[in-house]
Amino acid sequence: MINLAVQLPGLSLKNPIMPASGCFSFGREIGELYDLSKLGAVITKATTQHPRIGNATPRVAESSSGMLNAIGLQNPGVEQVVSEELKRLASYDVPVIVNVAGSSLEEYVEVASVVSKISNVHAIELNISCPNVKDGGIIFGTDALVAAELTKAVVAASSVPVYVKLSPNVTSIVPIAKAIEEAGASGLTMINTLLGMELDRKTGKPILANRTGGLSGPAIKPIAIRLIDEVRRNTSIPIIAMGGVETVQDVIDYLSIGANAVAVGTAHFKNPWICSELIDQLPEALASLGYSSVEQCIGRSHDHEYLLSR
Ligand SMILES: Cc1cc2nc3c(=O)[nH]c(=O)nc-3n(C[C@H](O)[C@H](O)[C@H](O)COP(=O)(O)O)c2cc1C
Repeated sequence: MINLAVQLPGLSLKNPIMPASGCFSFGREIGELYDLSKLGAVITKATTQHPRIGNATPRVAESSSGMLNAIGLQNPGVEQVVSEELKRLASYDVPVIVNVAGSSLEEYVEVASVVSKISNVHAIELNISCPNVKDGGIIFGTDALVAAELTKAVVAASSVPVYVKLSPNVTSIVPIAKAIEEAGASGLTMINTLLGMELDRKTGKPILANRTGGLSGPAIKPIAIRLIDEVRRNTSIPIIAMGGVETVQDVIDYLSIGANAVAVGTAHFKNPWICSELIDQLPEALASLGYSSVEQCIGRSHDHEYLLSR
């Protein structure tokens, strides 16, 4: 019997697999396909104080090596998220992580304070890394001091642990991760999408109305692995990893590099059952490596040097 359970601050996970923010919305559609209680956790779509309609269309595009999106934080606003979406998710036996976004420190604090009081919300994912909105998101995630100040304020206002989602669109990720850890975050999630652009072959113009968008899918996995490796060596708080997960080997790779759990994003658009299938496949994948638990696999890439550095 393989033990898939993982304990993280605020989160008692049955298994380490969950949908990534924005690729599962609030679980309404996928909840009709299988029992969401099977998931390790659910990460919701970004939630802001007021409803947002998002960016102009077209706001998704295929590229030769992944998907570009510039959705722009479309969501019904925190009031409706609480009264409808979180209420519906409470019928499942699954911890919910609410992805919180905003245009100002005050908005982040307000949304975090409201959602953290809801009983099935076990953690907050602080989205300081959205590359697709002008007035929020990434401006908070690219400067260590600003990221730390925001983290501190949200940790103080929140009654559940706060995980901060890191952007890969920075020159050096470690100082930002360290500042966020020192500011009191309980964990990190990484990575968000990489800023990209794709042209329409006929017109030569950008496909996305926003011109640029976030690249996701298998193309970004080697970048995510490299960034998680850097952050894992320099911080001690747990990491929930994401970026191009499509197969159980991808899950094993992220656990190996030191992630404590794994989220699946873009793969949902090809296969909405992906999380359920990966959960079914994980015990055999771990057993074939000689492990009897997920915990034994976490950080195995680092065995030698990692232990020496502790
Ligand atoms: C269509 C789409 C919408 C997304 N919306 C959000 C969001 O609202 N908040 C957020 O933090 N990340 C959002 N993301 C980023 C994903 O959660 C994830 O970090 C990223 O896509 C990398 O994982 P993947 O390669 O498995 O998709 C979105 C990604 C996509 C493709």
